[in-house]
Amino acid sequence: MTERLYARITGTGHCLPEKVLTNQDLEAFVDTSDQWIQERTGIRERRVVADGQTTCDLAEGAAKEAMQSAGLGPDDIDLLIVGTTTPDLIFPSTACLLQHRLGLSDGGAFDVNAACSGFVYALSIADQYIRSGSAKNILVVGAETLTRLLDWGDRQTCVLFGDGAGAVVLSADTSPGILSTHIHANGAHADLLKVDVGVSRGFLPNEPRAGIAVSMKGNEVFKVAVNTLGRIVDETLEANNIDRSELDWLIPHQANLRIIKATAKKLQMDMDQVIVTVDRHGNTSAASVPLALHEGITSGRIKRDQLLLLEAFGGGFTWASALLRY
Ligand code: COA
Repeated sequence: MTERLYARITGTGHCLPEKVLTNQDLEAFVDTSDQWIQERTGIRERRVVADGQTTCDLAEGAAKEAMQSAGLGPDDIDLLIVGTTTPDLIFPSTACLLQHRLGLSDGGAFDVNAACSGFVYALSIADQYIRSGSAKNILVVGAETLTRLLDWGDRQTCVLFGDGAGAVVLSADTSPGILSTHIHANGAHADLLKVDVGVSRGFLPNEPRAGIAVSMKGNEVFKVAVNTLGRIVDETLEANNIDRSELDWLIPHQANLRIIKATAKKLQMDMDQVIVTVDRHGNTSAASVPLALHEGITSGRIKRDQLLLLEAFGGGFTWASALLRY
């Protein structure tokens, strides 16, 4: 009998742009305050790409670090998946651009656009390839330059987002590993969070003043996010017959500290069991979960064999989770 295969995290990496944009910096050009942003979101500062710096540049930095920490070279990677909603180009995919830069062999490479859930969606796809024996080592990246899609005059959105990339290498192993992943979507809420232009619709916004920018009905998104994340953590624990007290770490999508605290409360987890980066990164969309994971691991807090719950929620709406033994 062949042994069951699991996808184990064998390496992680990250890349953040050098430029820091603080809440005080924002006060200088938009009608907001450090106090409002900190109280409502928990964000103090975020990173912003330099002129000419792209999503693929950030992805490359994170991917190289992840491969190095896994001790793997370009020929060892069978498949590359990039979660992003801010690709360098319409096509080729950022994954194809990255594959070339990393000198990977000609295994598959593709992007996943599930907005802020993109990395956990990509992780879920990678898990299926490893479980089925179709791939041995997969590079999974979440990379975004969301600040390229902001209207810097819209205080409801421009204070929330930042740029960055995180990456993991998943390797086939006979011990766990990812225990389960769960992905969901509901397109009925498309209008609550969107960038309302595109290739076949055209790049001229419906509203003359709108520009190519993220628009969001923040408080409606907030309510749906809290409820939905509450449901998916229940679903994940039930699917594995695991009690919330067995969890060691929550690694949540970093959109808003109040949403993170609501999920932790539901799981009866102390905030010292939750990896928080939103204060320094803002919402980096698909990069936020792998950035938090990398920080938790490299700071020595997350240890081998501990039980981790990853979750994300984003535009679409999309939402996703993964339960794994590190
Ligand atoms: N600075 C100062 N005031 C601001 C502001 C800013 N940056 N943004 C909004 N406000 C004002 C509003 O105009 C409103 O003023 P009014 O009461 O005079 O009308 C007031 O603050 C409250 O706005 P509201 O949108 O109800 O605030 P909120 O408590 O819901 O917080 C968000 C706003 C965006 C921080 C919050 O709704 C949120 O985080 N939503 C979910 C975001 C999310 O998860 N998005 C991505 C999913 S990936």
